[in-house]
Amino acid sequence: MDSAFAAIAERLKTATSVVALTGAGVSAESGIPTFRGPEGLWQHYKPEDLATPQAFARDPRLVWEWYDWRRQKIAPASPNPAHEVLAQLEQIVPDFLLITQNIDGLHRLAGSRRLIEMHGCIWQVRCLTEGTVYENREVPLSLLPPQCACGSMVRPDVVWFGESLSVEDQARAFAAAESADIFLTIGTSALVQPAASLPIVAKDRGAFVAEINPVPTPITPLVDSHLQGAAGVILPQILSILLKS
Ligand code: APR
Repeated sequence: MDSAFAAIAERLKTATSVVALTGAGVSAESGIPTFRGPEGLWQHYKPEDLATPQAFARDPRLVWEWYDWRRQKIAPASPNPAHEVLAQLEQIVPDFLLITQNIDGLHRLAGSRRLIEMHGCIWQVRCLTEGTVYENREVPLSLLPPQCACGSMVRPDVVWFGESLSVEDQARAFAAAESADIFLTIGTSALVQPAASLPIVAKDRGAFVAEINPVPTPITPLVDSHLQGAAGVILPQILSILLKS
């Protein structure tokens, strides 16, 4: 396994363009539950009851209660070594882009700035009348559902199932995947589109694709290197080899 780490560190050293895609697994070591798998949130909750525009139209208070609960779990969490290494890679690689499906804000907290939060951010809300987006960090929320200063209800500024991602974010993410030398897919089940297509696009365009995950995923057979294990353990080892070389 050490040689696989060294091979990736060597590639990172000479790469011009690196894209990393992260999913819930990258925040697991910060104590934030993932969605799938035996302990995943979707074992206990149904996405169609809580994470769709229809669910919000039907029962905004229920949806907000769930987000308020998630905000309470995320608020005390700190970035773990995986978030920290990805923030450092941004300083080392000439052209680095981090694309995350996570809405927890931990990559930004770790210092990542060349970052696309594809599914939005749990700390931003959007007014249903004005469309204004602004930060709301109240934990727990004192009013459910929370309101905008205009008196209208707000919603979490996240992308729910059945909703489209920002056109700009999507275009930027796919353009980066197409021109990447190295594409890292980390802590994602690679099941949710369009994020799941990014490593495939990168591979088709000639990138070296490496996956970090404790278990195989649907894209494992396609990747050049599958590093089996926790992101918070593997990424620091790769960075340490890279910094020493
Ligand atoms: N390090 C790396 N990977 C890990 C770790 C870890 N410490 N712990 C768990 N994983 C892996 C799991 O094996 C799994 O493959 O992280 C993955 C998490 O998968 P999901 O829970 O499906 O999360 P994700 O891929 O981010 O989900 C995508 O689905 O429900 C929606 O909008 C939600 O953004 C989310 C999207």
